This record gives sequence, structure tokens and C-alpha cells, in this order.
Amino acid sequence: MKQGTILAGGILTAPLFAKANYFSGADTVIKVALIGCGGRGTGAAMQALLTKQNVKLVAMADAFKDRIDSAYKQLNADDLSDWSGVKGNVKNKIDVPAERMFVGFDAYQKAIPLADVIILTTPPGFRPIHFEEAVKQGKHIFMEKPVATDPNGVMRVLKAAEEAKKKKLNVVVGLQRHYQNSYRELFKRKDQIGEIVSAQAWWNNDGVWVNPRKEGQTEMEYQMRNWYYFNWLCGDHITEQHIHNIDVINWFKGGYPVKAQGMGGRQVRKGKDHGEIFDHHYVEFHYADGSILNSQCRHIPKTMAKVDELLTGTKGKIFCGAGNITDLKGKVLYQFDQKTENNPYQTEHDELFAAIAKGEYKYADAENGAKSTMTSILGRLATYTGQVVEWDKALNSGMDIQPKTYAFDAAPPILPGADGYYPVAVPGVTKYW
Ligand SMILES: NC(=O)c1ccc[n+]([C@@H]2O[C@H](COP(=O)([O-])OP(=O)(O)OC[C@H]3O[C@@H](n4cnc5c(N)ncnc54)[C@H](O)[C@@H]3O)[C@@H](O)[C@H]2O)c1
Repeated sequence: MKQGTILAGGILTAPLFAKANYFSGADTVIKVALIGCGGRGTGAAMQALLTKQNVKLVAMADAFKDRIDSAYKQLNADDLSDWSGVKGNVKNKIDVPAERMFVGFDAYQKAIPLADVIILTTPPGFRPIHFEEAVKQGKHIFMEKPVATDPNGVMRVLKAAEEAKKKKLNVVVGLQRHYQNSYRELFKRKDQIGEIVSAQAWWNNDGVWVNPRKEGQTEMEYQMRNWYYFNWLCGDHITEQHIHNIDVINWFKGGYPVKAQGMGGRQVRKGKDHGEIFDHHYVEFHYADGSILNSQCRHIPKTMAKVDELLTGTKGKIFCGAGNITDLKGKVLYQFDQKTENNPYQTEHDELFAAIAKGEYKYADAENGAKSTMTSILGRLATYTGQVVEWDKALNSGMDIQPKTYAFDAAPPILPGADGYYPVAVPGVTKYW
């Protein structure tokens, strides 16, 4: 029997401020709500439904109805391989009638009470608000990275993470390399390279989608649809994508940088629909022990593409992409067997739902998720200002770039000039404090 539940509106819901729901056996239904029904949300919901547990999707929430409709259709596909790499279907695990599809900025408030596990996959600007609410309501959580876009958001997530620990809520963050066999095997053997003295991390590729402005859209709707290019929503690509690589270095180092300095700008991606973000960043992150991470991320077509991490120690090197460890002369000391690689996106959910079903408290990823998010924000602040930016000062700055009001007729925090272009940071000129 499920603990601490009440029957309301025909489905079981957890009372507000309850302790987490745990489950004693595979027969008990674990109810899931999806907040943010875009590409990743649809994938994450599918992965939750593909676990061995008795999982049901019971509520969906999104700022836009068309996104719910497309996610619902994809999840109900007769053959999931039409849009994912997975054969089969999960349609008998979807129980989301129209009255449990919620639309708008407040949709999350209506969906969260209806489930035991909440999937948070909106653009990251909303993550602190959504995470706080899910924790307040005593839910287990899968949330995507990054978990905020500004220092104030990071602080909110850190505070809610403490609360989640007290309530023993399992929280998995979609920094999936932590759930990937090759990274786990390399991590186990990291002492083979001695003390880590430097590291490199790359996320260099062509860039991502653009959703051009459409006639009739308010400024808020436009920015919400084209969210990648606005910092309050996305955090710039150093935060939105490169966080994965930066986080690996933090993980293997067992800590976070104390300061950063770097350079960046926008060279080719600088149209009106490219908002305010840079297309390249190069950052030196300094750790307390004097070691340095050289990090680069670039969204520029026809340049060298590379997404990877490399750690150099006093006795050897760890090449994450190749899955091997060498001595300083290049002799291979360990090679991960690529045949044993897993799909970490699925493993995240397999492990989370197995723990919940067994009544185990095993995952508390939010604090690291917040601190790796902060690391990437530190890099953005460094490239935007061209100054040395200190961790403590930035984290405690109270910097908050979110809108005052969340409504489609409200003004977002950044607006275009009369020429239709958005203000962009200028190193040496831009200052935050
Ligand atoms: N771990 C990974 O490898 C990985 C891969 C892809 C995306 N992601 C992360 O997943 C998140 C979503 O990315 P995506 O590619 O799915 O984007 P997306 O645009 O496809 O989906 C985001 C969805 O959230 C909705 N949304 C926006 N604001 C909302 C709000 N306030 N309330 C409810 N819904 C809202 C949007 O309408 C959209 O449907 C991002 O944080 C991204 O970094 C992670």
C-alpha cells in the first residue's frame, strides 16, 4: 500500500507538504507529471514509462497547448521508433485526459499535486520556481540541467535542495554522464592519474534551432518560443550545453572553481532572432588547489566540432570521449569496453524509479546540479565582462535576471531596440557589480 495518500478527483494525490511517497511493490502505480512538454520532456516521460516499475503519466503542463498536443501524440505512438531510438510503445501507461492537461505560466501548480514524481523539463529559467514547488509538495523529482540561469536562481535551488534532503525526496538531475557506464568506470579509476593538475572541456558545434518571430506574437511569447537566445530563459549556451562538460571536471575534481576569467563574443550568430547570447566563450576556471580548467564552447558552423573532456594528472590522463586512461607517455592503462556502454538517459530513470519503488532514498543530485550550473554562469559572467569573477561574490550577488511578472502581455527583462536588435554584453564595458 502506498503511504500517506488521499483520494481526490478520482486519482490518488499526496497531501500538501507530505513526506515523499514510497512504494512497497511493483504493483503500485507511481504517478508522473510532466512539466515542459518539449523535446526533452517527451523523451524523459517516455524513459520514465519504459522503466520496469508500474509508472503512469497522469498530468501534463506546458506554457503552450500545441506543445502538449505534440508530446501527447508522440508518447501515444504505436511504435516509439517513429521518433525515438526505442521499439515498442508506452501508450497503455498514459492516462492524461483533457482535464489533466494544464496550459500557461501557472500550469505547473495544477499538475504537481496530482503525481508522485515530477519531471521538470522547461527552459532552465523556470527551474528554480518549479523545483521549489515540487519539493514543497513532497515529490520525487527528475529535473533537467541547467537548474537556473542566474545566481539568485542557483541560491533558490540550493535552498530547496536542502529541504529535499530533509524530506528524503529522490532528486535526479539530467547531467547524464553521471549515469553513463564509461564515465562511471573512468571515475572509479581516476586515482590512476595522480593529482589532477589541469583539465580541458569542449562543446564546439554548429549551434541549435531558431524560432523566428511570428506576426501577432507578444514580445513575451516570442521570447518563450525562441528561448535559446535569451539569458533569463536559457543562460547562454555555456550554461545550456557546455554545463555537461564543465560538470564532468567538477565531478572528477571533487569541487568547484573559486574564480574564472575568459573571453567571448558573437562573430557569426548575430541576427535579430539571435537575441543576446554569444556564439563563443573561452574560460579559464581556477580551482582552490591552483589547478585550471580550460573550457571552450562555440556555436559556429564549419569550425572544428568537438564535445569532450580531458583531465591531466601528475601520473597520467583521462580521455573521457575515448573512454581511456593513459600514463604521461601515452601508454594505455585502462580502456573502457564501448560494447558495455548504456543509454544514460534511460538509466537515470531506471535507477530513480527503482529506488522510489523500493522505498529507498538514493539520489540527491540537486546541490551538484546547482553548483555546476553556477560554474557555467560564472563563465558567462567572466566572458561578458572580461573581468576576473569570483565564485563567492557572484553566487552571493543576488543577481536576478527573471521577469517581474510572468504573463504573455508582460514585458520580459530584455527588450529589443528600435532597430529590432537586442543589447549584447561588451567585455570591458558590461559590469554587474
Ligand atoms: N540532458 C540533456 O542532454 C538534454 C538534452 C536536451 C535538452 N535538455 C534540457 O531540457 C530542457 C528543455 O529543453 P528542450 O530541448 O526540451 O526544449 P523545448 O523547447 O523542446 O521544450 C521546452 C518546453 O517547455 C515549455 N515551457 C516553457 N516555459 C514553460 C513554463 N513556464 N511552464 C511550463 N512549460 C513551459 C515550452 O513551451 C516547451 O514545450 C532544457 O533545460 C535543456 O537544457 C537536456
